Amino acid sequence: MLSSVLLLLLINGAQAAYYGAVITNYFGDVQPFVLTYHFKESGSSCQEVDIWHCGGNCTTPPVYAVDESRNEWCQKTEVRIYYSYGPRTFTYQHSVGSSSWTENRNGIITPKLIISNDFRTRSDINKPNSTPRISILPVLRVPSNCQRNINLLVSDPDGDDVRCRYAAGSECDTCTPPSVLSVSSSCSLSFSPTNSSDEGPYAVQMMVEDFPRQTINLTDGYTGVQSVKTTSDAIGSIPVQFVFKVDPAAPSCTTGEYLPRFLPPTPEHGAQIYTNVSETVEINIRAEATQAETTELLFSGPPGVTKSSSGSGNFSLTWTPIAGDGGLNYPLCFVVQANSSRSVYQSDLRCVFVTTGNTTVSRSNTTTPPPTTLRTTTNQPTTTTTPPTSSTPNATPDPGPYYLLALNAEISTSLSMESDSATIMNLIKEELRRQGLPSDIMLKLLSSTLVGVTTQGP
Ligand SMILES: *[C@@H]1O[C@H](CO)[C@@H](O)[C@H](O)[C@H]1NC(C)=O
Ligand SMILES: *[C@@H]1O[C@H](CO)[C@@H](O)[C@H](O)[C@H]1NC(C)=O
Ligand SMILES: *[C@@H]1O[C@H](CO)[C@@H](O)[C@H](O)[C@H]1NC(C)=O
Ligand SMILES: *[C@@H]1O[C@H](CO)[C@@H](O)[C@H](O)[C@H]1NC(C)=O
Ligand SMILES: *[C@@H]1O[C@H](CO)[C@@H](O)[C@H](O)[C@H]1NC(C)=O
Ligand SMILES: *[C@@H]1O[C@H](CO)[C@@H](O)[C@H](O)[C@H]1NC(C)=O
Repeated sequence: MLSSVLLLLLINGAQAAYYGAVITNYFGDVQPFVLTYHFKESGSSCQEVDIWHCGGNCTTPPVYAVDESRNEWCQKTEVRIYYSYGPRTFTYQHSVGSSSWTENRNGIITPKLIISNDFRTRSDINKPNSTPRISILPVLRVPSNCQRNINLLVSDPDGDDVRCRYAAGSECDTCTPPSVLSVSSSCSLSFSPTNSSDEGPYAVQMMVEDFPRQTINLTDGYTGVQSVKTTSDAIGSIPVQFVFKVDPAAPSCTTGEYLPRFLPPTPEHGAQIYTNVSETVEINIRAEATQAETTELLFSGPPGVTKSSSGSGNFSLTWTPIAGDGGLNYPLCFVVQANSSRSVYQSDLRCVFVTTGNTTVSRSNTTTPPPTTLRTTTNQPTTTTTPPTSSTPNATPDPGPYYLLALNAEISTSLSMESDSATIMNLIKEELRRQGLPSDIMLKLLSSTLVGVTTQGP
């Protein structure tokens, strides 16, 4: 009881605040197409992000911690899977509760997050559009006297042309962009040395859009009506928001002195790293600052990345992709921070791409715990499921709302399929509903190692 009272006081004392977000949409390759909705959000504390997401109890839907910078920010991510959606243009305003932006120089108070995507079938890929994919840290900082270029690495699952710009019009509550930072359509941000009167935090509200590389048609699955998208028509647009802090001038802008400098074996910015499902990838990062103490590695990437430090500016990031990550290319970004007499110095933002091969784990025995940690959690300690990664092809072939007729999921459980099948089936059913399936789904046990699932109607 005492600890929960203390916790509430801490949240109030820390002045809960919003530090930005990123939302992306992705469609898998197997019909019926499943929509994965990734929502990354940052606040001044992890408890506070939980309160916005799920009233403080974040067991459902699953919310994962990405990274935390002590006493400054916490980034969390939520992954939602949708099995049913209309083949229409989709525009959604995501709520971030009653939170306000952290205090900023450009006067942005109310967060607004609008994602748009077109769910009609693209003629070039025969499925709906996936939005660009991007990772961003909640806070990027630079001393006011130092020049900095920030290249935001973006990838697009459909190979589209990706462009960045500041949010405008109805995309923001107050749109004033940071006066000290300019953004180019190629997603590079540039800061020029300024005087101390410009120091302080700025709220950055950007939109990242994907454009087809050639003229394509989009077909409405209900009416069959086609519309044309040229290379100057955005198909999807996602919000990318973070805090840019202009700190007091540094004694020197030379990297490696106060501002940490990356050393080998740190991968280069834009490096491509390959892995496979269930295969752990480790990225070693090393940085030095001769006039400051290298203290922290901060990162943002796909759910499940963990970090460790072995001291003296040596860090590593470790990630084991699960089945749902197969075939995907994720940007993973990081910075190293150093401090010296109460000032904090941040290295350049460095991002790499991590691509997971399609090589999948054998599913011949679904009751054997897979060799990897599953990231989807349930309230029950004994059973977890992964999002479906493939479906049997006997699905409705006509366009229109999609019905999931069968799915293939991995289950790790200490229960026995022979004696506890009813409990296992109930847990699976609950989990599928939480993942967005209608409440009238029916589950059928096909054999001791196979469970069938059917759903009726939209
Ligand atoms: C700082 O910049 C502002 C705006 O550009 C300018 O008005 C002011 O004179 C500058 N101050 C100094 C000390 O250079
Ligand atoms: C796109 O639609 C137009 C007319 O609506 C049609 O003439 C054209 O062939 C279509 N192109 C593709 C690639 O489907
Ligand atoms: C992924 O698996 C394929 C097929 O087994 C293999 O050829 C490839 O080397 C693996 N990739 C990595 C990065 O281990
Ligand atoms: C840090 O990494 C470098 C190169 O990888 C190595 O030579 C050094 O011993 C490491 N230091 C620590 C404290 O692990
Ligand atoms: C994975 O599968 C997708 C769809 O079948 C394909 O487009 C992609 O090239 C594959 N990737 C690899 C690395 O094999
Ligand atoms: C850096 O910060 C840590 C924690 O606040 C502190 O213990 C350490 O003395 C600082 N180092 C320097 C060089 O200021």
